[in-house]
Formats: sequence, structure tokens, C-alpha cells
Amino acid sequence: MKDSREQHIAGGIQNAHRSSSSGLIIRQQDPKNLETPFDQVDSFLTPTELFYIRSHFPAPKLDLRSYRLLIDGAIRNPFSLSYQELREMPSETRVAVLECAGNSRVFLVPQVEGAQWELGAVGNAKWTGVPLAALLDRADLEEDACEIVLEGADQGTPKEKPVPPGTISYARSLLRDKALQREVLIAYQMNGHDLPPDHGYPVRAIVPGHYGMASVKWLTRIHPVREPFQGYWQTSDYGYWDYQDGVPVRRALGEIKLKSEIARPTAYETLEPGQLYMVTGAAWAGETEVTEIAVSTDGGRTWAEAKFIDPIRRHTWRRWKFEWLTPKTPGQYTLLARAKDAAGCAQPERHDENYGSYVINHPLPIEVFVASRNVGRKT
Ligand code: MTE
Repeated sequence: MKDSREQHIAGGIQNAHRSSSSGLIIRQQDPKNLETPFDQVDSFLTPTELFYIRSHFPAPKLDLRSYRLLIDGAIRNPFSLSYQELREMPSETRVAVLECAGNSRVFLVPQVEGAQWELGAVGNAKWTGVPLAALLDRADLEEDACEIVLEGADQGTPKEKPVPPGTISYARSLLRDKALQREVLIAYQMNGHDLPPDHGYPVRAIVPGHYGMASVKWLTRIHPVREPFQGYWQTSDYGYWDYQDGVPVRRALGEIKLKSEIARPTAYETLEPGQLYMVTGAAWAGETEVTEIAVSTDGGRTWAEAKFIDPIRRHTWRRWKFEWLTPKTPGQYTLLARAKDAAGCAQPERHDENYGSYVINHPLPIEVFVASRNVGRKT
């Protein structure tokens, strides 16, 4: 008998098993919100066709011949670039995790509104492009520019209230210090090929270490500003409650929080008793490093160290594995994974309500059944 928390999670998980032709799980058809089947990715790089898609509006169709990237605002040297001019600039290639801030929302109890992402609104890919810092250098940033607004070409009316009148385009800002780090790319390739339309073709931002909402797709404008940007996706959406002198204040989400996920077994999978089973998963963090990973097979009462498959590489995920001798006693078991970072901090025990329906980085319970599949079968 499942309790209400399990029923809710199981319901969400069962609703999700409608797959698109590429094998992605459909959360929403239009605009496209498709999830990676997390149990099916066992490579360091998520294959492009299995990389999750999170779009607020339909993908705009941008023509390479007329495409321009405009850089204006709090700079001394405004300019614009064609696609070709951008591609002729010195480029860099980096691997980075992209995780949607709402990833794993299905695990929140009681259920909250929004796409019921399970484990797969996250991926690890190789991105190629021009460091944003190089463009800002050429633009000659004003000293008092505090943030850089990145604007996409997609437009529409957002869903969550309060919504501004008319249509708006997707825009997010980055703090000046982060924008000037060489890892922030104005990217045109993903895993060695031109960006696919749903991943921001022809040009997008990649902000390693920050939740996915910062990596603006279909990028057409880079706009340094002198005052903190208060756009819709900076305040209404993708914001959280912080406290200033005891008073709640709204802040923009930014850095990815430490997290680990179990890829295999999947929720409600049945495993043979008394057998070795390789539990696998991945762990990642924002600006820090994942240094430890532990697994519990008894709902968090005891923990055992798991082994990393990948070395530490900043901004990328580390896959891990754990060999589990399944119990001889049939029953339901709760698996959890918990990572620690370079400072010795572990994932939090529970979801922090100040983040609303975002930043779900507590250890996520994966319920499995241990039962002999041969029971009742005639030999
Ligand atoms: N950029 C634009 N222009 N429009 C969007 O809707 N979605 C953001 C971000 N960039 C979005 C965007 C969000 S919320 C996420 S999680 C990532 O893109 C997802 O990138 P992906 O679809 O390539 O996985």
C-alpha cells in the first residue's frame, strides 16, 4: 500500500510515459517541454537528441542571412555581429551541466503547479562559442554597468501571474562578475554540431554553474544595464524568497545547488532478491566541486560510500556507481543518493520552501520492490 506521498510521485511518474519520436518524455507539446529519460543516459555527455528541452514560447525561426547579435546599452562601443562574424572570432569549447531550476518537481509534496519534471530536466553537453567576456571587452563596458541582460528572439505572454500586458521576449540578466568569467559562452555548437532549433539555433548563451534559465536561447541582444534588471523571468518567475534584516525580499535564482540523482534502478522497478545490482547516477554542483557521494538503500537510516566514474571537472557532472547486494527479504525499499561538496556540505535533508517550486536538491527517494520474478511460475 503506497502512502499519499508515494501515490502522488507514482502518479506523476506514470503520467509521463508518453514519449516523443526521439525518445524524450513529453511534458508539454506546445511550447516544447521534453524531458530526458534519465535512466537511459549512461554516457558522460548527454546525446543531443536525448537532451531535455525547456521552452516558454514556440522556437522562433531565425534566418542565418539576416541574423544579427546586437550589443548595446551601458557600453562605449555599441556594435552588432552577423552569424559569420561571430563564428570567425576565437572560440572555446567547454562541457557544462544544464539543469532546469524546476527539475524533479514531481517529488514535491503536496503537488505544485508547473511541469512535473522527474529526474531528466538536466543534461551534460559540450558547448562551443565565443566567451561573452570577449564581446564585452570589444564593447568597452562602462564602469557602472552592474548586470548584463541577455535577450532571446522568442516572444509571447507568460503564464504565471502577475503577467505584463502584451507580448514580451525571454530575457535574463547576469551579474557583471559572472558575465566576465571566461566560461560564459555565446555558443553556436552543442556536442560538436550546430545548435538544433529547440536548443537555441543559431546562437545561445551558456552560463556554466547557473540554472538553465540563465542560458538564453535564440540570443539576439546583449544589453549591459546600470540598475539591477527586474524582468519577468528575473523576479516573478525564477525568483525565490531571501531575508534581509528579517524581511522577505525577492531575489533571482542563479547558481545551481549541489545535487545527486539515481538513474538506475528506476522508481518502482522490481529487483531480484539476493543479487548484485549496480546502482548508478550522477551528481553535480554550481561553482563548487562534488567530492563525495553516498547511497542509502534503507530510506536514509544508513549510508555507504559510492564510487565516482568521472573525475572532478568544474561545471560538469560526475557519474557514480554503487554495487548493492539486494536483500533476501522481499519488500519495498527506498533508495537515496546524497552528495557532498569541496567544503564538506551535504545536500539539504528537505526542500527549502523559500524556493517555491524550484531548487529541488534534497535526496530524492526512489522506491523499488525486491521480489522474485519466478514466484508463481511453473517450472
Ligand atoms: N531562452 C529562451 N530564449 N527562451 C526560453 O524559454 N528557457 C530557459 C533557457 N533559455 C528559455 C531560454 C530555461 S528555463 C532552460 S532550463 C534552458 O533554456 C533549457 O535549455 P534547453 O532547452 O536547450 O535544454
